Amino acid sequence: MAVADLNTALALLILLLVGSLLQAEADIGVNWGILSTHRLSPPIVVDLLKENRIGKVKLFDTDPSILRALMGSNIEVMVGIPNEMLELLSSSPVAADVWVSQNVSRYVVKGGVNMRYIAVGNEPFLTSYQGQFQSFVVPAMLNLQQSLSKANLAGYIKLVVPCNADAYEASLPSQGAFRPELTQIMTQLVSFLNSNGSPFLVNIYPFFNIYQNTDFPQDYAFFEGSTHPVVDGQNIYYNAFDGNFDTLVAALNRIGFGQMPIVIGEVGWPTDGSFSANLSAARAFNQGLINHLLSNKGTPLRPGVPPADVFLFSLLDEEQKSTLPGNFERHWGIFSFDGQVKYPLNLGNGILKNARDVQYLPSRWCVANPFRDLTDVSNHIKLACSVADCTTLYYGGLCNAIGDKGNISYAFNSYYQVQNQDERSCDFDGLGMVTFLDPSIGDCHFLVGVNDNSSSTSCRILSWLWVLILWVLISAP
Ligand SMILES: *[C@@H]1O[C@H](CO)[C@@H](O)[C@H](O)[C@H]1NC(C)=O
Ligand SMILES: *[C@@H]1O[C@H](CO)[C@@H](O)[C@H](O)[C@H]1NC(C)=O
Ligand SMILES: *[C@@H]1O[C@H](CO)[C@@H](O)[C@H](O)[C@H]1NC(C)=O
Ligand SMILES: *[C@@H]1O[C@H](CO)[C@@H](O)[C@H](O)[C@H]1NC(C)=O
Repeated sequence: MAVADLNTALALLILLLVGSLLQAEADIGVNWGILSTHRLSPPIVVDLLKENRIGKVKLFDTDPSILRALMGSNIEVMVGIPNEMLELLSSSPVAADVWVSQNVSRYVVKGGVNMRYIAVGNEPFLTSYQGQFQSFVVPAMLNLQQSLSKANLAGYIKLVVPCNADAYEASLPSQGAFRPELTQIMTQLVSFLNSNGSPFLVNIYPFFNIYQNTDFPQDYAFFEGSTHPVVDGQNIYYNAFDGNFDTLVAALNRIGFGQMPIVIGEVGWPTDGSFSANLSAARAFNQGLINHLLSNKGTPLRPGVPPADVFLFSLLDEEQKSTLPGNFERHWGIFSFDGQVKYPLNLGNGILKNARDVQYLPSRWCVANPFRDLTDVSNHIKLACSVADCTTLYYGGLCNAIGDKGNISYAFNSYYQVQNQDERSCDFDGLGMVTFLDPSIGDCHFLVGVNDNSSSTSCRILSWLWVLILWVLISAP
């Protein structure tokens, strides 16, 4: 007995130790954006997260239907405040109080949302914003911190500011420094974060190094070692992620906060819409990154200390995102818009699994009518592709080589699905027709939209009804 007890105790101790070691590892979360017309219902997405044991999620807003779906899930949540709200929140303590009570306090209750972070703005220091938001960031944080204190949430929920990696620069990591015009704001911001025990949040995208610079050594963007390592004094860098991370560490060090914890707010690789955006590159990058993080190697400036948290960009494709940065913008998901795995990926808990109970529209597509002369179709295509997503048809896209007719059909179908398969949306002056045969060509998939009104809610109500009826029947004398 005593020996068995000892064994049990030992086993427990080992379990605890392993558990705490695991907890020291970087946890992989995901960004959940909703710029999409084909939107899975939030309960289906939350089930997808749970099924894949993804315990952390970063949102860009405080969408009530999403927060309601996350209630009781215990998933750690970061909500976001859009840049456009910063001015108001910086000037009005009352507005900050109202924002916290409407968008935070009401959800952070017993059995509610496990909200841990509030992202104040999204990349508000981005160079392309030309400084329009940057002066509001710290004052908005001060007001919000007061509001959180009043709501007794200040100890639990941390304010953070997602920064783009363009906030700092250097030719070598050890020379990292914040952009000169940001030094003062960054010093204020980082000392505020530090006094609240908040981490520094940064988005790192080696994909952009390749996309924007054809001379960038391809293998340096990935994690398989590089024929062009960066030699920085004693330190040698074999991948762009570590180099970028340590540039930030050096920049923080320069303003006196070299020990500040760092969270990766966004990191990922798109799968379509440009030459380097493809499935094999996305898989290589994301799996390489995850293995690198789970190895706990850290970086030359922070050996053995991986980022505190990492949020992959992104959970699902969003086909309404702006294509200003490039056509790849709509294809960042590790899952397609309908929650289907795009490529095998293991976040540390086994290979990802597809979403379940996805409600699709009927198996119907809109294609170009083969019996009509299609010479006058260009205006229809323009309209269709201004509303729906056609980015995969362009150079570097998965559907770039499907021919003229294929192009037209793809555009017609995308539009038809966005319009929830409304019959009139497949007319195009008689040039379109509905088909029940899947027109997909090779790897070029012609999509069928999902039904975004939560049928899962009605399913649940139905099953409750059944339970109620059964209960009444059973308890009847
Ligand atoms: C809650 O947040 C949303 C989006 O950030 C915003 O539109 C809304 O006004 C907020 N509620 C209040 C009361 O501020
Ligand atoms: C995918 O992208 C990688 C990275 O840029 C590139 O090296 C590779 O050739 C691409 N593969 C295909 C099939 O386009
Ligand atoms: C289909 O459209 C794309 C984007 O406009 C174009 O690059 C491609 O050449 C087109 N294919 C044909 C066969 O016209
Ligand atoms: C879903 O919405 C469509 C309109 O978009 C409506 O016609 C349909 O009845 C709705 N279905 C359910 C189950 O609510």
